[in-house]
Amino acid sequence: MPAKSTPPSHPERPSRYDVLFQPVRIGPVTAKNRFYQVPHCNGLGYRDPSALATMRGIKAEGGWAVVCTEQVEIHYSSEITPFIELRLWDDRDIPTLARMADAIHEHGSLAGIELAYNGMNGPNLYSREVPMGPAHLPVATFSHEPVQARRMDRRDIDNVRRWHLAAVRRAKAAGFDLIYVYAAHGLGFLHHFLSRRFNDRTDEYGGSLENRIRLMRELTEDAKAAVGATCAIPIRISLDELQGEAGLTHPEVEDMIGLMADVPDLWDVTLAGWENDSRTSRFAEEGHEEAFSRGVKRLTTRPVVGVGRYTSVDRMVSLIREGVLDLIGAARPSIADPFLPLKVEQGRIDDIRECIGCNICVAGDFTQSPIRCTQNPTMAEEWRKGWHPERVRPKGSDRGVLIVGAGPAGLEAALVLGKRGYDVTLAEAAKELGGRVAGEARLPGLAAWIRVRDYRRGQIDKLANVRVYLDNRLSADEILELQHPVVVLATGSYWRRDGVGRVHTKPMRVNADADVLSPTDVMAGRLPRGRRVVVWDDDHYYMGGVIAELLAEKGYETHYLTPASEASTWTRATLEQHFIQTRMLRKGVRIQTFRALQSIERDHVMATCVFTGTANDIPADSVVLVTARWPQEELASELRARQPEWSDAGIQSVSVIGDAYAPATIAHATYAGRRFAEELDGHPVTGDELPFRREITNLLPVDR
Ligand SMILES: Cc1cc2nc3c(=O)[nH]c(=O)nc-3n(C[C@H](O)[C@H](O)[C@H](O)COP(=O)(O)O)c2cc1C
Ligand code: SF4
Repeated sequence: MPAKSTPPSHPERPSRYDVLFQPVRIGPVTAKNRFYQVPHCNGLGYRDPSALATMRGIKAEGGWAVVCTEQVEIHYSSEITPFIELRLWDDRDIPTLARMADAIHEHGSLAGIELAYNGMNGPNLYSREVPMGPAHLPVATFSHEPVQARRMDRRDIDNVRRWHLAAVRRAKAAGFDLIYVYAAHGLGFLHHFLSRRFNDRTDEYGGSLENRIRLMRELTEDAKAAVGATCAIPIRISLDELQGEAGLTHPEVEDMIGLMADVPDLWDVTLAGWENDSRTSRFAEEGHEEAFSRGVKRLTTRPVVGVGRYTSVDRMVSLIREGVLDLIGAARPSIADPFLPLKVEQGRIDDIRECIGCNICVAGDFTQSPIRCTQNPTMAEEWRKGWHPERVRPKGSDRGVLIVGAGPAGLEAALVLGKRGYDVTLAEAAKELGGRVAGEARLPGLAAWIRVRDYRRGQIDKLANVRVYLDNRLSADEILELQHPVVVLATGSYWRRDGVGRVHTKPMRVNADADVLSPTDVMAGRLPRGRRVVVWDDDHYYMGGVIAELLAEKGYETHYLTPASEASTWTRATLEQHFIQTRMLRKGVRIQTFRALQSIERDHVMATCVFTGTANDIPADSVVLVTARWPQEELASELRARQPEWSDAGIQSVSVIGDAYAPATIAHATYAGRRFAEELDGHPVTGDELPFRREITNLLPVDR
């Protein structure tokens, strides 16, 4: 229940935000404010425990009252290889988790742990144990592993209860203050027991609501009896599976919550599956889960935390004032800005680095690599590179820096170098800042991406030592005349128009009279000739799908061709693929998969089946090629050719960063900008030694 006292307001903070800094009682523990970092995985897990502990510690430093782990595997019979999460399989895992809890406690925050028995969600590729769930069903993972889970019998249920309890005790020993019972997202066995989609049992764990929640109740009560005097026991549950009557429905879950109203110490509510909960900004606005979470507080006296990519502080306040939530849950907003609560506390609202809702962070999990964030390039680099989202080390020299190009890489470099104290000149050829982001944010559904530019522009405006020149295309002559010792070229890239990409590594055959465009042309406002257009997507991220959507909206008869099995296939890693293909189909885009574009004629294209080579012609007045990009490296080549003139011009180095070096995602570009700015005047990176720390497995003695 929320505690009454309100701490004194910070002089710079509007008093209406004070409510966010009221402490909240959660069972036996108290959160110092209402900012709650809900569980989120990160691709670090058991492989990079120190990096993970440091990352969570920085969230606590940034003011989150509660900082949680990701889902933590509690038993070897329920692991989710290849995903890399934390493990609490036995006592030897306690020190890893204790390191994290300590890092969180150091800043006065509460440490939460989400215990997960994955059940049917884990194919057990590592342990090779047979997965278990409420029913005999194929494992329900993101890949279609040819593995089935077996139906748990009474003994299995007793075993898992015992294992869960052991994990609860270990979590307490590691120092955690909140120990979750995880029943959300369709990602754990409890959710599978709750949902009729998976639970067809006829015993006391199936059928009625009371029966389906039985196991969730038992695990909660077991945990409370064991550690409830000192640790809070929250339940994380999904309010709807959005599958209609086939799955968990909103009224049904509300009834379940009603049946267990005050059994847990907190209700943490989400949507299921994960793709519905962590929706990208292309498919959901901030607060998209509010319609579901709105009724939960009337079912319980326990505090309620909910999520919805919340970055608007006024909206957070109204959620509390209207009695929708007690705590503002955040995964992505806390990744994009680990210091969001502190900035609100200090009234520094303009300094908040708002999440753009792109889910590159989720892609880290799907690619088993350390989490990356488009907005916060320090994510997962806190320990291994010593980067901090707010602090930078002072400049290492008085050398002036000229940055050419104000896209995501140039802006990030200018901002961080400016904060380090360098004298920075940022020159941009266009009339507006942002580079690729300015163009892409005008495409359907990508408006929030402009935050990449706007956050950096706002911060740079505050730095007197960074001067920005728009509409200023610099030539090599001018760069030499300007006499800046450090020159950084962040001139971006443009999409190719010759078909070179993954399928064709050499230019494609194109009739001289054919109308061929690239995404760069479309973003510049050029429209295809005629009414029939083919979009050839050999890139596989969002661009091909977005262009097809845009052209269909404009009334073109749009054919989308891909050599992959589905549209925008890489967006599986950002949880968007299903939404993208659905939207394209609804907008009338004709999707042809497994097709390779072979040649472009004046009024048609020739495509072939990627398996049999069988050719078919598709009538087309125009073609948009979404293939590869050219780095804009002309300036770099010319400056390199004129290296003998550098010393007279006072130039010591010319570096190329971001897409101008090698085109990739916006997250790669902000990272490249950050990296240049962090490393300037630091230890030289020669490639002969690792430029980051890594944790090495501690070898056990070899048995002979
Ligand atoms: C990178 C990432 C990893 C996540 N991992 C977990 C997880 O391990 N356990 C969990 O319960 N939810 C997980 N989630 C879901 C979040 O906790 C949260 O419910 C969801 O992202 C919506 O909140 P947001 O809009 O504030 O991001 C994850 C979300 C993200 C973005
Ligand atoms: S990667 Fe994108 S969605 Fe994830 S936190 Fe960063 S900005 Fe938000």
